[in-house]
Amino acid sequence: MNQFDFDKEIDRRGSGDVKDDALATMFGRADLLPLWVADMDFEVCPAIWKSLEKRIAHHIYGYGAPSDGYWQAIIDWENKEHDFKIAREELTYVPGVVKGVALAVNHFTKKGDKIVIQQPVYFPFKNVTVGNGRICVNNALIHDGDNYSMDFEGLEKILTEQKPKMMILCNPHNPIGISWSKEVLARLAKMCKVHGVTVVSDEIHGDLTIFGHKHTPFATACEEAAEISVTFGAPSKTFNIPGLVSSWCVVKNEKLRKPFFEWMEANEFNAPTFVATIATEAAYKFGKEWLEELKEYIEGNIRYVEEFCKENLPEIHPVRPQASFLVWLDCTKLKLDHEQLNRLFIDQARLALNDGEMFGPGGECHERLNVASPRKVMERAMEQLLEAVKTVRK
Ligand SMILES: Cc1ncc(COP(=O)(O)O)c(C=O)c1O
Repeated sequence: MNQFDFDKEIDRRGSGDVKDDALATMFGRADLLPLWVADMDFEVCPAIWKSLEKRIAHHIYGYGAPSDGYWQAIIDWENKEHDFKIAREELTYVPGVVKGVALAVNHFTKKGDKIVIQQPVYFPFKNVTVGNGRICVNNALIHDGDNYSMDFEGLEKILTEQKPKMMILCNPHNPIGISWSKEVLARLAKMCKVHGVTVVSDEIHGDLTIFGHKHTPFATACEEAAEISVTFGAPSKTFNIPGLVSSWCVVKNEKLRKPFFEWMEANEFNAPTFVATIATEAAYKFGKEWLEELKEYIEGNIRYVEEFCKENLPEIHPVRPQASFLVWLDCTKLKLDHEQLNRLFIDQARLALNDGEMFGPGGECHERLNVASPRKVMERAMEQLLEAVKTVRK
């Protein structure tokens, strides 16, 4: 029997959350079903809100002192869930995964250095690179039907000819939801090691593997991967607490770690708020059952979207994710240009999704659908989409 109620619809309007309250700013109108930014419409696991409420009830909100239990909870979770063995000194707090990636870019590279990303990919990777005066080099994913893979030939050419200093890896890969295999990650690591490239691995969706897939932390793929990697993870996507800013960083290699961690320490980038440490400890210690039920519910929503499209919307093809609650919708068969596709989703279907082009080349004619909402919301969304598509059917 299920313990947690993911069917419960909760009105988030007025809560200050970006997903609902920034609709007008982001999409030009507020009357949309929000299925965009990657957080979930589900109430968090009771262990998390109970531990926060207990602390908040003590009305002095001083600087937090992270407990030993906080660090141990991260270490135990990674070991148990992903066979990722982390020593305490290899771990630190970071104020967000994107900010962590930005810190790594600033620390390990200089202006004018080249950084490889694999588009279509989570758009802040490019922003962080270009915004810090680095040169972004795209080793585009190879796309064959529903199958997306890394272009190792393209990468070898880039490594040899362009001599990048860093690669930012999305593991699992957002927006397509690819859970990279150990073999792929090890091959990548060996190539990057030969060329002296540091790999920054964003593993924020690592706990959310579904449909039988298993997450491999990049640093565990092989010895070379452990040597050249800077890993960022968080309980934020997993347990729906992104607003609490609870991310962490692991660097196995002391030569990379020592100067990086000392620089973060000197600048106090590694100082967590008490809400982050309390929520993280509760999530990792007591959230496993909630997470298992969540993943089952997400799989159910994905199946529902797949079946609905198959029966009613053959012009839209959902690419099944192997991880995350984000579904990459291939809308090529609608034969609409970028503006027409956006107008269809926003003005006709009244849905707020992420426009595929945000993620770079390869995102054309795609939309990213967030399915972490109660089933009834997904049903409304698909009905609204169907009505909109009917108006453009020839
Ligand atoms: C791949 C990826 N990395 C990082 C983030 C954001 O992480 P943070 O809020 O910790 O910066 C997201 C959020 O959607 C994401 O999908």
